[in-house]
Amino acid sequence: MTGTTNSYILVTGGAGYIGSHTVVELINHGYNVVIVDNLSNSSYDAVSRVEYIVKKPVPFFNVDLRDSEKLGKVFEQYDISGVIHFAALKAVGESTHIPLKYYDNNVNGTIKLLETMAAHKVKTIVFSSSATVYGDVTRFKDMIPIPEHCPNDPTNPYGKTKYVIENILHDIYNADTTWKSAILRYFNPIGAHPSGLIGEDPLGIPNNLLPYLAQVAIGRREKLSIFGNDYDSHDGTPIRDYIHVVDLAKGHIAALEYLNNVTEGAGLFREWNLGTGKGSTVFDVYHAFCKAVGHELPYEVVGRRDGDVLDLTANATRANTELKWSAEKNIDDACRDLWKWTTDNPKGYAVAGYQWTTLAGTDGDYTSRVHTVTKDDLSVSFLNYGASIQKVEFKNQNLVCGLDTLDEYKSQDIYLGATVGRYANRIANGQFEINGETVKLDKNNGENSLHGGSNGFNKQNFLGPIVKRSADEENLILQFVLVDKAGANGFPGELIAAVEYTVGNDFVEVEYSATTDASGTPVNLTNHSYWNLAGNKSTIDGTQVKLATSKALEVDPNTLIPTGNVSTLDISNLDGKVDNCLIVRESSQINTSSESLVEVLEASHPDSTLVLRVETTEPSFQLYTGDYVDIPGKFGPRCGFCVEPGRLINAVNVEKWKQLVLLDNKSTYGSRTRYSFKLKN
Ligand code: NAD
Ligand code: WQD
Repeated sequence: MTGTTNSYILVTGGAGYIGSHTVVELINHGYNVVIVDNLSNSSYDAVSRVEYIVKKPVPFFNVDLRDSEKLGKVFEQYDISGVIHFAALKAVGESTHIPLKYYDNNVNGTIKLLETMAAHKVKTIVFSSSATVYGDVTRFKDMIPIPEHCPNDPTNPYGKTKYVIENILHDIYNADTTWKSAILRYFNPIGAHPSGLIGEDPLGIPNNLLPYLAQVAIGRREKLSIFGNDYDSHDGTPIRDYIHVVDLAKGHIAALEYLNNVTEGAGLFREWNLGTGKGSTVFDVYHAFCKAVGHELPYEVVGRRDGDVLDLTANATRANTELKWSAEKNIDDACRDLWKWTTDNPKGYAVAGYQWTTLAGTDGDYTSRVHTVTKDDLSVSFLNYGASIQKVEFKNQNLVCGLDTLDEYKSQDIYLGATVGRYANRIANGQFEINGETVKLDKNNGENSLHGGSNGFNKQNFLGPIVKRSADEENLILQFVLVDKAGANGFPGELIAAVEYTVGNDFVEVEYSATTDASGTPVNLTNHSYWNLAGNKSTIDGTQVKLATSKALEVDPNTLIPTGNVSTLDISNLDGKVDNCLIVRESSQINTSSESLVEVLEASHPDSTLVLRVETTEPSFQLYTGDYVDIPGKFGPRCGFCVEPGRLINAVNVEKWKQLVLLDNKSTYGSRTRYSFKLKN
């Protein structure tokens, strides 16, 4: 941990390939990060996946560096101590066709950034330069591996923008020696994060070797063209210094720390090569990637590519000794991680059948995203807020109550569509005993604690989602995660809660899982959607139900806490008020996910042709007819009914039920519930 607690590192281009990996490393090293990116060559999904990896929100601003006004606002809002500057256009070939665009974006963008930094007295910058500034080093006799003092002579407009920016930074330092600039000249970054969650996602046809090869391996391109095998290398193909992107990312932390350690009041301008110091040929990389994939990939040797040179290998001694940094991974590691990224995300961040937008009136607020997945006749929308279900549309009929704006969601207290946690349903007197000690919770329901307390999961912004297709490509999967801090609403221990939705042709399944660092903490998670099958009517009156059980927990009418007795609930419609916990099966497990799903309820309405079936692995479910709903102008009493599978009410205070809900740091909490839809027979 080397970051300071209150200040932020501004990462420009943080949604991009190298930027996103660097943000992960910065946060892992204790830095706070704010990202600015205009998403011209990236997508916000990269940021949301970074958040998922580091399990923390990362502030993001969709701002073009050339927009000084908007950039200035970010500097006003955050206490920025330094900048890592990735934002640039980077395609060598393209730069020869549209040089002005490259100079404007890269050079002008950097000038605006530096002006804004100066105006806010921020004088620390780590700059993404490139080995391309050296040009064709074979023009010298003894310059390979390439040292930093090798004269610069970039051969294309892209490389020249890097050269110009390096010089601007040098001139600024000459004028004011309190500026600290680290110039990092990258060699060939490859690979992806080992989690498979972030990686390189090139638009269009990839220019670079490994992204192209990965698309051949996944079937998006026919074969690799190898640009020349008549070079003076061991196999005739050119030599490059390929560096794993995670090693490269770590080089930025090392550079930042080096700058931070420069004597108080003094500045610095210095260049470092970030490479492994080891060259590999195109065939070396080809074979390493084929090994990762498990079979040979098609290729054809074609003529040399314009501008390619024999050898670009770094002399990385300066970074090794001064920054105390060196690359730890090799091309086999990079190929393995790239292959995982590719197979987990065959189309990069894009997933067919998925799109997101933000709730009405919250343009640019990335915390109020709505994620919609569509599968044949079913379209389901989810929110980060509460990892809630906002909409379930089957055969053009909406089946749940949902709202349009974040303010509406925040102001209602009926758990509309939300994930309920950390503890669904009631805990008597808002307290329980653990290890001989009494734990007191937030009492938000008379004497009791209800649905996790007044600031439960329904009011939290979940991170993610990771959106992907299932292994058989059939279903769409969305994974949200929430870190609920120790002490939140009074609960002991940190809880990491994951909510995974799977959407198929005719069902939505939700799987909950949770882990804790505590020796014991109670957990009970469920979903609180208000279902309405009455074809867009405002009430559920007339809804017919078939329940798999009539065994209900008897509760004290005053405290609403179980008495210990079992009563009978025999109903075939929802015309009366219901708020009962029905017992499905005996269970004593903290994790029911591996149990088979059991159908607990079937519901339909005479005015519609649709049927809802609810199946769960859970021992019980609360059935509630929404009699207390009151959202003026939107939803009133009995607008929908809730089916809330979970553990028995107040289990944490009942000796024989305790093991159902008490999670320790050696176990995982889990459950599954499936809501499926069909036409009436
Ligand atoms: P990338 O395109 O994935 O990331 C660059 C990010 O900057 C993108 O997210 C893009 O949307 C953003 N951006 C571009 N112009 C912007 C602007 N005007 N305002 C705000 N955001 C803007 O590229 P990358 O591979 O991650 O490269 C990052 C940096 O490293 C670049 O400066 C690049 O020149 C340099 N570099 C890359 C390589 C390489 O092979 N990938 C090698 C050497 C140097
Ligand atoms: C690597 C080798 C090709 C594609 C570029 C930029 C450089 C830096 C990194 C930003 C070469 C061969 C490639 C293919 C092939 N970027 N190849 N078939 O050219 O070393 O460097 O990216 O700063 O500035 O120029 O990388 O991945 O394109 O090529 O045979 O389809 O693979 O000839 O020898 P390069 P690359």
